Amino acid sequence: MRFTSAALTFGVLISLLGLAGCQPIQPLSGGGEGPAAASTPIHTETFDASKYENVWVLAIEEIDNEERSLLRVSYPVTEQDAINARMEAVTQEFIDEYRSIAAETEAAYQEYKKETGKEAATFVTHYRQHFDVSIANENLIFFDLVRSIYTGGTGNIYVVGYIFDRGTGAELTIPDLFVDDSYLNRLSDLTREALAERITKEELASDLQWVEDGTAPTAENFDNIFIRGNGTVLVMFDKYQVAAGVEGVVEVELPLAAMADLLKPEIRDLLGIEADSTSQRSRIDATAGLSAASAHSPAVPLAFSKTTVFRDFPELTLLNFTFSAQPKSLAQDEINCLEVACVALTFDDGPSFYTEGLLDTLDEHGVKATFFVLGTQVRIQSETILRIFQAGHQIGNHTWDHPNLTQMGDDQIREQLKLTDDLITQIIGVPTPFLRPPYGAYNDRVLAASALPIIFWSVDPLDWKDRDAEVVASRIIDAPIGAIILAHDIHKSTVAAVPAIIAALKARGIHFVTVSELYAPRTLLPENVYKSQSDAPSQ
Ligand code: NI
Repeated sequence: MRFTSAALTFGVLISLLGLAGCQPIQPLSGGGEGPAAASTPIHTETFDASKYENVWVLAIEEIDNEERSLLRVSYPVTEQDAINARMEAVTQEFIDEYRSIAAETEAAYQEYKKETGKEAATFVTHYRQHFDVSIANENLIFFDLVRSIYTGGTGNIYVVGYIFDRGTGAELTIPDLFVDDSYLNRLSDLTREALAERITKEELASDLQWVEDGTAPTAENFDNIFIRGNGTVLVMFDKYQVAAGVEGVVEVELPLAAMADLLKPEIRDLLGIEADSTSQRSRIDATAGLSAASAHSPAVPLAFSKTTVFRDFPELTLLNFTFSAQPKSLAQDEINCLEVACVALTFDDGPSFYTEGLLDTLDEHGVKATFFVLGTQVRIQSETILRIFQAGHQIGNHTWDHPNLTQMGDDQIREQLKLTDDLITQIIGVPTPFLRPPYGAYNDRVLAASALPIIFWSVDPLDWKDRDAEVVASRIIDAPIGAIILAHDIHKSTVAAVPAIIAALKARGIHFVTVSELYAPRTLLPENVYKSQSDAPSQ
């Protein structure tokens, strides 16, 4: 593809300025067909220690149809066979559902492609499951399976709780924990009170009648209850159950102590709490329980150590699942941008002299961002790259030295990306997941040669042009929800604008997330261009 001569001249002009402004150059749309070659399904299983003592992780990944079909699940393995069998069975149901939906979706995609000759990004089936341990002591273990399903262009995340007696392997339900149904009355009273207060404070779009109906003391109304390691009971109400749909799933957190007198005495004993005391909360703390667990079980009770199991698939790739070693922000359940308002703040052309100060600011406000870095800069500031990564920010490839990739040969494009990627991988251990082409200049050849998702932007404050913090901030503070915001951490004025930008967007209830988090649970696909959360990936 070629640019119009005007756009090309502008691009060259910018690059002659030396400092790398990311001025967009819109490529002419290409009519190229996507590659039709059948992909090879990949199935990987890994077994590894978890961050919980005497709990292991079995992780399964299946990728097929050029990543349109993707399954990524993990489930806990313990010293107790009965627990393992149950967790395997519920996970297998999830996997079976995935395979069935993925097959249907792929068939629909092939038919659509045949009829229209077009690609469409909505024909994806992405199923994910990971687990959290909310309570673990020598007697009981509480698992939450966190599941996200993305298919047909929409996504959903939900949590299923499981409780086991570690001694016998028996599964317990929430009603099993209580002496009788009177716990429903208690939950009804307490949640009603909490929700009524929110209505009074205008924090909840609902009314008292709605709340009264939704919290009536029935098992059906309270079928989503989680007892947490921090000594609380989390009650989740379905969308529309107690409030307007705009509120989504409504949660109420109650102190477990307020329910303790209704727990069966043996459950109280197992949990290590007393009927009339809140002072024992720490004993059911998940972390505190872990040391007790090791006293109960031998240190390595399983006959197998770390192993990798391969099944009958044509080609196998071993992926390294390191759940406990991931930077905090990669935990996909932290902020769910399908449910809450998010933007992705991105910084190009660094790291620079100003980046460390910027990182201080981001840390101070708990803000995650994405840095599109240049190889030449990484080479002289490798420690900054490590800090960016360890702080939980995301790192993308912005080429080695900021050329206009559309004017390069395929081999040169690949070299620009590979040099940068190799260097970053040396420092942080993982490659960059996506590309932002300098000047926003890409065409079909750049898409194909890079073989990476391309991250564009939807808000451009022109901070390379106007070196004034107030002006830069004023062009960002009204960013729409789901925006990808372009900025440059090579300008002092831009870095100075960041505190005001954070304050203004947070005041609007907007969360700052990395690019991957903005799209989660969608996986960014190679040769697709992403400009904001709402746009469908273009082909
Ligand atoms: Ni740039």
